[in-house]
Order: sequence, then C-alpha cells, then structure tokens
Amino acid sequence: MKVNGKEYRTVWLEGSTVKLIDQHKLPHAFEVATCRTHRDTAEAIRTMLVRGAGAIGASAGYAMAQAVLEAPEAAFASFLEQAASLIRATRPTAHDLFYAVEGVLQAIRHAKDPAQARQQAVRRAEQLADENANAGEAIGRVGAALLRDGVRVMTHCNAGWLAFVDWGSALAPIYHAHRQGRALSVYVNETRPRSQGAKLTAWELAQEGVAHTVIADTAAGSLFRHGQVDCVIVGADRIAANGDVVNKIGTYTLAVLAKHHGVPFYVAAPRSTFDVTLDDGSKIPIEERSPEEVTWVSGLTAQGRMERVRITPEGSAAKNPAFDMTPAELVASFITEGGVLPPSRDAIRAFVSAKRLPADSIVHHPA
Ligand code: MRU
Repeated sequence: MKVNGKEYRTVWLEGSTVKLIDQHKLPHAFEVATCRTHRDTAEAIRTMLVRGAGAIGASAGYAMAQAVLEAPEAAFASFLEQAASLIRATRPTAHDLFYAVEGVLQAIRHAKDPAQARQQAVRRAEQLADENANAGEAIGRVGAALLRDGVRVMTHCNAGWLAFVDWGSALAPIYHAHRQGRALSVYVNETRPRSQGAKLTAWELAQEGVAHTVIADTAAGSLFRHGQVDCVIVGADRIAANGDVVNKIGTYTLAVLAKHHGVPFYVAAPRSTFDVTLDDGSKIPIEERSPEEVTWVSGLTAQGRMERVRITPEGSAAKNPAFDMTPAELVASFITEGGVLPPSRDAIRAFVSAKRLPADSIVHHPA
C-alpha cells in the first residue's frame, strides 16, 4: 500500500528489529514504531499499537523469530517456551496469532543447532508475512468479481491493509474493483468503542481515493431499510469448522440486518483465520476489554492536541466485549484466497486441507 506516495507494509523486520505502523496515532499522525525485542513486539500487540487479525499474526511470527534470535544457548528451549506463552497471552481471539507462533516453532523443530534455528525462524516469519500479503491480494481479486459497477458496500471495523501486512481482507476486493475502474462507495461503520472504522478504515480508503461515508454504528439499520446497502463485507478474527464467524463487536447485528433485508453478507478471510480444531463458534474465546474504552473517548482537539475525555457519568458501569459471534447460517459466502466458498463444513474442510490452491480449484458460489 502507498502512504503519501511511498510503498509500506504494516509490519516488517529490519535485522532483529520489528517496525510497525503506529495505529494509536492514526489518522492524525503517521509514525513508524520500533520494537527491539520480542517483549516490545508482544507489548505492541497487547496494547493494540498493531491490531487486526492478519497484522497481529505477522507481528506474532516476527516476535517469535526475535525470541529465537535472543535466546541464550544455555537455556534455549525454556526461553522460547516462555516467549511463546508471553506472545500467546497478548490477545486471545485472533487465530492468526496462534497460527504464526506455531508456524515459527514448527519451522525450528528439527534445527540441528541454535544458529540454524535462528536462520529458519527468521525465514519462516518472513514467509508468514509474505503469505499474509499474498492472501490479501488473492482475496481482493476473488472478491472484486462480486462487486458490480456502482455498488454500495458496508463494512465494519478495519479489515484493510492496516489489519494485515498488505491489502487486507474485507477491503481488498474494494481496492481491486476500484483499481479496475469500477465506481463504488463504502459505508464505514464507526465501530465503537475503539472506532477502528472511523479512524483507520476511513483513513485507508482516503489514501486509496475510494468514495466513503462514515456512519454511526446505530445508523446501519436505517440505511438497510432505505435500500442503500447492496452488500456487506467484513473480515474475521476466527472462523470455526462449521463456518461460525467471530469478528469485531457489532458484526452480528449487521448480519441479522443483512439477512432481514435480503442483502448478501460476505466474510473475507485467509486460510490462517480458519480454526478447524473448533467445531463451532461457541468455543472461540471472546476478548473482554477495559470498560474505560466505553466510558472515555480520545481525539484531536481544534487546537491540534490529542485528548482523552470521559463521556459517561462517573461511577456508571460499562461492559466491553471486543468481538461477537455470527452463526454460519447468516453468512452468504466466504471470500478467500482459494475462491468464494459457501459456509459449509465440507467446503471449509476442503479449503483448509488443500495442499495447494491452484486457480482451477477455485470454487465460485456468488450469492
Ligand atoms: O480488536 P482489533 O482491532 O484487533 O480487531 C480485529 C479487527 O480489526 C476486526 O475484527 C476485523 O474485522 C478482522 S481483522 C482482519
């Protein structure tokens, strides 16, 4: 993706240092943060300096590689065990995080010595980041075929390139269709309480020159009712074997609205987001975050200062589940790097277990 005309990835490795776009400062300032150790990178994931399933996954893979680079030879295995536990404990919901930690550990399992393990860990972490970017590109190509000229898409949270290494999941089809010259417009749900839609998706779409309108989350129903939404595309943090989807809080509400109004509800996600070890979505852990994210908001004052202000009475209780579960029956199709899939166990099993995803294996089931 290009920021002010320069190509960037959301997260990358320079030597043993992880660099990532600081998502706390956007959209008001563009800065790159530096994580020198695996602990710094884990902290960046925990505090959501980097967020979004795919970007969390790539960062976790890099953090694990950093740990392999840092591990003292005398206590190599125990250092890595502790590092893996620290990284796994940063965020509980996004499957990509666990996929990446296991991916790096798996890659060094048969290393003959620490030096070889270091090489293999870095190589695997880089591969995971590349696979993530390539999957986003393919999801974009596959999904763009579902978007006709003039389509009005609604999206929730941020599942664009800031949520991945590049391209994204839900926004990738929009970028492809836009670059192919199709006219389209996007309703961007604000996505309280952290406002990833208003802050990040709106900024990404503006960088790409895609027409978009930010709406309060509470406005979505009225737009459906007035026939102003042609399809919904969201990302996912984890998808169970039966097609149940866990995504940012508020996604379930949109899926119910879409079903009621006969609007296709698409979920865009790469293979690394599918967790077929879980039979259905009820087993997916839902992160519960600080109530302060609900009771306080932050933003730029007219004088150009970032400030945080309370919006509820002192003493009012607040609850803050970060994700919700959308049952498979509300999903029209999954948009994946292997094609457009129906939300069925068989299709998911075949996709996840395919050794390769050649173009001729792509299954098209447009809703
Ligand atoms: O809490 P976040 O910002 O890390 O949440 C993740 C998300 O951005 C969304 O749930 C998104 O739709 C899926 S991530 C590609």
